[in-house]
Amino acid sequence: MSLLRVSALAKSFGARRLFAIDELTLLAGASYVLTGENGSGKTTLLRIMAGLETPDGGVGHYRSRRFDWQPYPDWLRREVIYVHQQPYLFHTSIAQNIAYGLCARRIDRRRRESLVAGAIAWARLEHLLATPPQKLSGGERQRVALARAWVLAPAVLLLDEPTASLDAESRRQTIELLRGFGSARTTTVIACHDRDVIELPDVRRLDLAGGQIVV
Ligand SMILES: Nc1ncnc2c1ncn2[C@@H]1O[C@H](COP(=O)(O)OP(=O)(O)OP(=O)(O)O)[C@@H](O)[C@H]1O
Ligand SMILES: [Mg+2]
Repeated sequence: MSLLRVSALAKSFGARRLFAIDELTLLAGASYVLTGENGSGKTTLLRIMAGLETPDGGVGHYRSRRFDWQPYPDWLRREVIYVHQQPYLFHTSIAQNIAYGLCARRIDRRRRESLVAGAIAWARLEHLLATPPQKLSGGERQRVALARAWVLAPAVLLLDEPTASLDAESRRQTIELLRGFGSARTTTVIACHDRDVIELPDVRRLDLAGGQIVV
């Protein structure tokens, strides 16, 4: 079933046409990798789909509900989450970082604490809880950011190069988490060049080339 579909999605920066995508359909519960050369527009495309950037034109459908970007609807922001390649962490604690979106959604404290505890266990962060977020390694920060997104159980999760600039062991741990990310409840798109991610089982490939998506 089509979960998120965008049509005639165009974006230019100045005179430079980045892409004009006829159609891109994400199926419910499927996992995708988004490949493409540096500068082809992967980050821009993910940010547009999450409503963080505005395209020059385009129409979207979420399930069968139509939307556009003027403005991007608030109800869709709750469904589509983008995780930055170098995620920003608040200078509070790991647990408070993970709880951030739950607080914004006014989830009550008991339920929040139980969800955060589940996310901490999922991302194997227990031994780091006393460490200030700004002291974490790149791989640990990435795991906190993944937990912060995962805990919200988004319908669509857009991950921007989650394994870039990590050492071998952090990469391995992050890929382990990515394996468990796609599920019936979450459609994931992972922008990356990492062969080990591209070759994960049951991952479909999207390639952004020449301003079009090639499936
Ligand atoms: N706000 C902006 N203003 C002007 N140009 C921009 C802006 N954002 C991105 N660009 C340009 O658009 C192009 C695509 O950028 P984008 O970051 O989407 O590519 P990418 O495929 O994610 O690249 P990479 O593989 O290096 O991450 C680049 O040439 C970039 O310089
Ligand atoms: Mg990018």
